Amino acid sequence: MTETLRFTQVDEGMQDDEGMRRFTFAYALSKVRSSVSTGKLGYYTLTFLSFLLKKPPEVAYSYENKHPNHLRGIINSMEASVQQNPLERLARAQCMSTREIVETLEQIGRLPTNTAPQLFLPLAEHPEEEVRLLAAKNLAKLENRALLDSLAQLARRESSTRVRRELVSAIGRLRHPDIIPHLLKFLSDEDPKVILQAIRGLLLFRESPEVMTHLEKLKNHPNELVRKALVQVFHKRSGDSPRCLPHVYSPEWLHNKIVNADVLEVIKYVPDESVHLTFTSPPYYNARDYTLYQSYEGYLQFLVRVFTEVHRITKEGRFFVLNTSPILIPRMSRQHSSTRYLIPFDIHPLITKIGFEFIDDIIWVKPEPSAKNRNGGFFQHRKPLAYKANSVVEYVIVYRKQTDKLIDWNIRQYDEETIEASRVLGDYEKTNLWKIAPSADPVHPAVFPVELAERVITLYSYRGDLVFDPFAGRGTVGLAAMALGRYFFLTEKEPIYAQYAKQLLSEGNLFCQKHPELLSLEQFIALSQENNQYCLLLFEAVLESLDREGATSSAV
Ligand SMILES: C[S@@+](CC[C@H](N)C(=O)[O-])C[C@H]1O[C@@H](n2cnc3c(N)ncnc32)[C@H](O)[C@@H]1O
Repeated sequence: MTETLRFTQVDEGMQDDEGMRRFTFAYALSKVRSSVSTGKLGYYTLTFLSFLLKKPPEVAYSYENKHPNHLRGIINSMEASVQQNPLERLARAQCMSTREIVETLEQIGRLPTNTAPQLFLPLAEHPEEEVRLLAAKNLAKLENRALLDSLAQLARRESSTRVRRELVSAIGRLRHPDIIPHLLKFLSDEDPKVILQAIRGLLLFRESPEVMTHLEKLKNHPNELVRKALVQVFHKRSGDSPRCLPHVYSPEWLHNKIVNADVLEVIKYVPDESVHLTFTSPPYYNARDYTLYQSYEGYLQFLVRVFTEVHRITKEGRFFVLNTSPILIPRMSRQHSSTRYLIPFDIHPLITKIGFEFIDDIIWVKPEPSAKNRNGGFFQHRKPLAYKANSVVEYVIVYRKQTDKLIDWNIRQYDEETIEASRVLGDYEKTNLWKIAPSADPVHPAVFPVELAERVITLYSYRGDLVFDPFAGRGTVGLAAMALGRYFFLTEKEPIYAQYAKQLLSEGNLFCQKHPELLSLEQFIALSQENNQYCLLLFEAVLESLDREGATSSAV
């Protein structure tokens, strides 16, 4: 009885002295513990002990001799109170500083579902956003349906979108049909992330026509992430796309073909989802004389038409890598100024609109001496405003055909052997700054280096894949693809470059089983019709066999 009383006194003593820093206290306790276990109480430990016992040091000392177990009990209890359960500490939150509350809330791990929500509810209205956020996270862990109205009210009143999102997530975790009307209200939230959180909660109830009607209304939401989430929802509902050909397959009749014609004439004969990767460098508006467009707008529209077709023929979730750079249309005379066009930036929004997702912006850096000198005048006179930077970079922008499937899904389509053979071994560039020397060619005025094409092909395709370049030039993409065990399919409008590409590709073809072939548009159309006819026959044969199987199984 007396011992219990003293114990309580000591406990209270500690609480009285809130000013004592926790860590000093814990340190002193650990000292006392080791001193007691060795039987040697030093001056400081004795002083501390006397503080604990509220007795003079000499009494504390003899107390240690007389009541060792009780003393250990006190120490244990003191240590426990220092490392007190954060939930117990939270009960005194009103006496704690914001930092202490945040630290305590952060320490809380899993929570038993019967934890009293009263610990967190007042903190969910704390003036500090961080406290409210952590309180909301902990309320979410409780998954307590009785909290639905409180959570909904808190979320409606909450001004911070971070906290609101967390509260909407907490509502979603209740997984009960009662949450539907509450979540529907957040579909019109001003923050897309809150909307996405509400959609996430509602997707549990995708069988509910009410839910689906509301979600359908968001299909044209101004925010692209919301639209994307919805595309995924409705795409999933309609089942996976009805593609019957394996992902790794590409039409053999396209393998290692160069078609000498306008890409727009050729590509319409290429079946949907035929190619695994497109890497290209389009004509640079009117910067070279092989291209002539009515206007810059007309040029961009031409590219959009080509890239829309590229999108159609690209396999699900596969990559489209575009090399462009700003171009300069020289001035007509000294009285005129030259014009620069920022092609990669102008084309980017048009490409994402087609349905390609932006993945990476890689900067291809060339050595300084390779840049065209634009500094002549300025170098002499040094007058501000006349400065012109020598351009040593080009853009290599990486896009992926939009899909709800993860990259892992794409990778899983390949067998172990192909994955093994395609691994990117050894050193590789880890940043988006690719230092590669440019290439010059005796025939073509604007080629990219084989090294650049090899890097792109190595990183964004697997062995046996089909790689496409709509603006093939001398066929650099084909050369790299062949060297890396991929197939190529190229289109090039200018006969001289197409012939040249055929020549280079045939020379580089020593180890390639499929010989490069140069086709005219007419030859290509004939080939495609032959193969489509073949595909139709194949398809009919498959249908027939399915019918037969069906008949047999129903007979059984
Ligand atoms: C920048 S060069 C590409 C060079 C290529 N990357 C190489 O390394 O050889 C662009 C090429 O696109 C070709 N081209 C332009 N318009 C075309 C079209 N409508 N269809 C097919 N090729 C076209 C041009 O003749 C030129 O050879």
